[in-house]
Amino acid sequence: LKILVVNGPNLNMLGKREPEKYGTQTLSEIMSELTNTANSLNVELTHFQSNGEQALIERIHNAWQAVDCIIINPAAFTHTSVALRDALLSVDIPFYEVHLSNVHAREAFRHHSYFSDVAQGVICGLGAMGYHAALNAAVNRSQNAI
Ligand code: DQA
Repeated sequence: LKILVVNGPNLNMLGKREPEKYGTQTLSEIMSELTNTANSLNVELTHFQSNGEQALIERIHNAWQAVDCIIINPAAFTHTSVALRDALLSVDIPFYEVHLSNVHAREAFRHHSYFSDVAQGVICGLGAMGYHAALNAAVNRSQNAI
């Protein structure tokens, strides 16, 4: 099973950025723990982070017919980007949407997502554990075809 993890803008600042909302772990710490879990599950995991919409879109295009599943935290683009939504639909790869914080308990502008209605599943408010939950869900889905 090949899984691509995509993280959007400002997530490279994890650890420094609003730790009361996003925790104290850095993105590289979170991704290295996730890679360990993936290895133990026989999953080939690749990770990409960008602060730019264009780079994120192009990385998703490059995943066409190359990965089985995408785990994405679109960060602020969750609430703004039709283009990133369309990129995911264009490659026709099932994806899970992850947010570290509980976006529904925050400002009203974070309550709407351009991704949730086309995602396999949506996880928010679990912190870094959300990425692990998505990984487990993807493995489960590939084994049970659900
Ligand atoms: C986020 C929530 C978004 O509203 C915010 O813009 C982020 C991070 C999260 O992981 O909780 O950058 O996606």
